[in-house]
Amino acid sequence: MKKRKKPAKRAAARKTSSRRKTAKAKAGFKRPTFHHALLKTPRMDEMIRWYADVVGTSPNFYAPGIAFLSNDDANHRISLAGSPNFRDNPEFRTTAGMHHLAFEYDSVDDLLDAWQRLRDEFGYEPHVAVHHGMTLSFYYVDPDGNSVELQADAFGNWKKSTKWMRESAEFKADPIGKFVAPAKMVEARAKGVKTRELLKRAYAGQYVPNAPYDYRLELPG
Ligand SMILES: [Fe+2]
Repeated sequence: MKKRKKPAKRAAARKTSSRRKTAKAKAGFKRPTFHHALLKTPRMDEMIRWYADVVGTSPNFYAPGIAFLSNDDANHRISLAGSPNFRDNPEFRTTAGMHHLAFEYDSVDDLLDAWQRLRDEFGYEPHVAVHHGMTLSFYYVDPDGNSVELQADAFGNWKKSTKWMRESAEFKADPIGKFVAPAKMVEARAKGVKTRELLKRAYAGQYVPNAPYDYRLELPG
């Protein structure tokens, strides 16, 4: 019969195993952090204004045909290459390529506040809003038709939401999640429903939108 290790020995074994993992990672390649995306646009000024209004970017560099925008300490998060000759793609729903960029808020409350601000100040509404399980996500359309996701971690913690994605039967059964109407969530919050309960109810389908959303994505037939 195998002898159970004493707690101190078990902790030491865990430490060794984690050291081994770290050593393995060090022996392999270094993993870079995602930094920015470049968008080609025929509407440079409109795009600069929209990203400023929606996610608070400002240009760190702007010259005819090129702009570098950031909303944090990185020198740029969005690059824009501008020319009136770039053509819109009416087939975007079925053609290959990027569907959306995503920005993350610190909390679900911040995301709901952003929804309110964007609606009140600019009349912007998401083209789709979903409780994905690991995130609450509201997707907006920029002036060129790119989708921009504004999200908040539903667990308030990347480790917890990652574990849930990897292990939960709910996510396996439904990796998209439940459509939500942000207005209904904000209304419930105003009546005193706390964030945790709000998310629980949203995921249970209690705040479904009154009209169908446009995901702006279709699988080609
Ligand atoms: Fe996303």
